Amino acid sequence: MSDEYARVQAAAAFVRERIPAAPEIAIVLGSGLGDFASHVGDAIVMPYESIPGWPPARVIGHAGKLVVGTVRGKAVAVLSGRAHFYEGHPMANVVFATRVVAALGVKTLLLTNAAGGINTSFSQGALMVIDDHINLVGTNPLVGPNDERFGPRFPDMTEVYSKRLRAVADRAAERNGLQLAHGIYVGLHGPSYETPAEIRYLRAIGADAVGMSTVAEAIVARHAGMQVLGISCITNMAAGVLPQPLNHAEVMETAQRVRGAFIALLEEIVGTI
Ligand code: HPA
Repeated sequence: MSDEYARVQAAAAFVRERIPAAPEIAIVLGSGLGDFASHVGDAIVMPYESIPGWPPARVIGHAGKLVVGTVRGKAVAVLSGRAHFYEGHPMANVVFATRVVAALGVKTLLLTNAAGGINTSFSQGALMVIDDHINLVGTNPLVGPNDERFGPRFPDMTEVYSKRLRAVADRAAERNGLQLAHGIYVGLHGPSYETPAEIRYLRAIGADAVGMSTVAEAIVARHAGMQVLGISCITNMAAGVLPQPLNHAEVMETAQRVRGAFIALLEEIVGTI
């Protein structure tokens, strides 16, 4: 584990040398939100593959980049492209970016994602503030010997998603005239979508939306003492809710459709944090 600490520190040192000021807020962009990166002022762009220790991308053409600059006067680090567990990355790689931004001094982490709607009162294209999560990924990013320099052995998970930041999101949505749902996000391993029976089970245990990211990053962020806000774009109704199969094209289409409103919301949130 101490090797992992050195790997994170090396990446953070590389980034630190290239930026004028430490970012306060980091934003992880989910599917279809890549455009947000172009809204960063005074942007310093670092392709992930240029950063020492950064995990290699598994999906060709989706290497991703770290963009450091300003949004509404705030120093931000934007992570465009994330490593998913379903791609076969070890957990340490899935949470590497989260640990690097923590090492840079980021205090607030904004996680965005695409998710399937389990709550039948949601509609496609809705945005949902994550009030809490259920980890059904099948593992935990903190499995293994604990390195105290990252955080404590048994971190508290009572308030993974900051109550204060959830209220900030509500106020930002109100100012933008945007409806914002709230709910519980359940994180699964993937990459197959769920069966209708699994969705009924997930609804029964209290989940409102389902996805394949975010949970591991949120756990590691709390381990590191960062404040977390999570927002899901409900890109599709979950399996069995509607009489039609799911497909990735639909997920991307919906993400594209609401991208403008989502980006405006993120900017408004960053401005108010
Ligand atoms: N299930 C899991 N992950 C997802 C979904 C879904 O329906 N939509 C977008 N990501």
